[in-house]
Amino acid sequence: MIRFENIGFRSVEKQDIEIIRKEHNDESVLLMLRDPRIITELQQLQWWESISKSRNNTVFCIFHENPENVIGVWKLQDLDDTNRCTEMGMDIFKNFRGQGFGMKSFRMIFKYIFENLNVHTIYAKVGAYNETSLIAAQKAGYKISGKIPESLFRKGKYWDNVLLSITFDEYRKLPESN
Ligand SMILES: CC(C)(COP(=O)(O)OP(=O)(O)OC[C@H]1O[C@@H](n2cnc3c(N)ncnc32)[C@H](O)[C@@H]1OP(=O)(O)O)[C@@H](O)C(=O)NCCC(=O)NCCS
Repeated sequence: MIRFENIGFRSVEKQDIEIIRKEHNDESVLLMLRDPRIITELQQLQWWESISKSRNNTVFCIFHENPENVIGVWKLQDLDDTNRCTEMGMDIFKNFRGQGFGMKSFRMIFKYIFENLNVHTIYAKVGAYNETSLIAAQKAGYKISGKIPESLFRKGKYWDNVLLSITFDEYRKLPESN
């Protein structure tokens, strides 16, 4: 378990998977994702088995104060041990949004990945329709570095998938990283 100020993160255990599935299946999250299909209990169990076995594609519960008080999840996706880069994703659960947990979680996760996993570049992909996430990610230090044009179909039309990234040097220059 890793703690950072009054939040922290820990592994996802079996008892967590139903709350994560419910949040995932909530329209406010589901329709932001690349794959907006609803997840069943069985699919969730298979997902948990898969992330539990993997070191480079895995998920963690973010908690507030107490490890049982889960407020969201973050995902380490395609961690590349050779080129020292990784994709990262994060969801703050609906009832906890807009209270600063997203910003604090970004700081916690950047610190962990850059300063402990020795990653050089972190990137994320966000649908152009997901304005809140684009604003929050850039506020946390990500820069828009590209896009995959018209590669996400949502609300009846194609949208760009926006690529955001932050390098270790850029992270070191963030005022809050010192
Ligand atoms: C994006 C997300 C992680 C932000 O987490 P959060 O805890 O709500 O964010 P914070 O409270 O720390 O706010 C951070 C900044 O984001 C922006 N923001 C937050 N909510 C916003 C909203 N509803 N509208 C516009 N901007 C918003 C603001 O700039 C805010 O900073 P400010 O309060 O100083 O103005 C969260 O909304 C979320 O999990 N959304 C659903 C899932 C998702 O889209 N995940 C990303 C997929 S790639």
